[in-house]
Amino acid sequence: MNKKVFVTRAIFQDAIDQLISAGVETKIWPDELPPTTLELINNAADCHGILSMITDHINKKVIDRCPNLEVISNMAVGVNNIDLKYAGFRGIKVGNTPDVLTQSTAELTIGLILMLCKNLYQQIDDTKHGKWATWHPIKNLGMELSGKTLGVFGMGRIGQKVASIASLAFGMKVIYHSRSNITAKQKIDANAVSFEKLLHLADIISIHCDLNEETFGLFSQEIFKQMKNNSMLINTSRGEIINQKDLETALSNGPLKSAAIDVTYPEPLPSNSKLFQLPNLIISPHIGSATLDARTKMANIAVKNILNAFNSENLVSLANNSYLQIT
Ligand code: DGY
Repeated sequence: MNKKVFVTRAIFQDAIDQLISAGVETKIWPDELPPTTLELINNAADCHGILSMITDHINKKVIDRCPNLEVISNMAVGVNNIDLKYAGFRGIKVGNTPDVLTQSTAELTIGLILMLCKNLYQQIDDTKHGKWATWHPIKNLGMELSGKTLGVFGMGRIGQKVASIASLAFGMKVIYHSRSNITAKQKIDANAVSFEKLLHLADIISIHCDLNEETFGLFSQEIFKQMKNNSMLINTSRGEIINQKDLETALSNGPLKSAAIDVTYPEPLPSNSKLFQLPNLIISPHIGSATLDARTKMANIAVKNILNAFNSENLVSLANNSYLQIT
C-alpha cells in the first residue's frame, strides 16, 4: 500500500504493527507532549492519514497543509478537536472510537461520585498527615448513595452506563436531561426531566454531553444558582462545558458542596490556577478512558479506521458522516 500515516503520539506497538504489516509507512511523534500545530503540519504534510489524539487541533489550517489527506482517525470518542465540517467538505473521513471507552469512563465517574460522597480525598490526606485523632461518632461523616437523586446531563452511551450502575448497584434514583432519544435508555430505571427540574432535584449532577456551541460554558453562575443546596457536580466529558470562574464561586459560596472534574479548560491547568486551592474540588488528569482495556481497543479501532479508509471500506465509526462530500 503506497500510503503514509502520521501517528501523533506513541501508541501500543501492536496497533502500529497492524499499520506496518499493511504496508503503510508510519511516522510516530516521539515526544511525551503533543506536537505543536507547526510540528503537526511539518510531519503530516505528505501523509494520507493522521492518527490523532484529543490533544491535536486539526483545524482548517492543518487540513489545508495536508493535500494528500484521506482520513483523520481520532483515538477518542470526542471529536471536538477536529474541524469536522471542513474535513467533510474536503472529502476527508474522520473516524472516532466510541463504545469501547464507555465502561472505563462510567467507572471513573462512579469512582469520583464515591470520592465526593465519602469525602475520601480529604480523609485520606488528613490521615496521612497525622490528623486522625480518634474514631469519632459524629465526625468524618459522608453520605450514602442509596435513595439519593443522580441527575445525568446527556444520556448518550456513557450517561446511560453511569445511570444504570447508579441505579442497579447503588439504588440511586436517576433523572436525566438529554437531547438524544436513544431506545437503550428505556431499559434503565431513569426519568427524563427538564433541565430546570434536573438542577432543582438532583443531589449529584454528572455531565455527559458533547462539547458544542450550545454546551460551551453552559454550567455557569446562572445554572449553579438553580442547583440544590449542598449538591455535587461531576464532569468527565469536556472542561469547556463548565465556566471555571463560576465553579470557583459556586464551590466557595454555595450552592455546591463539592465537585470532581476529570476535564479542565485548558488541559492541564496552569499550576497557579485558583481551582487547585479549593478544598472541596477534586481534579483528575483526563483519565476517563485511561484503562489498559479501553486504550487497547481504542488504538485498534483507530488503526482499523485508517486501514478501512485506505481500502475504501466503511469506517468502524465515521464521525463526520453528515458533512462528508467526497470530492
Ligand atoms: C474521549 O475519547 O473523548 C476521551 O475524552 C479521551 O480520553
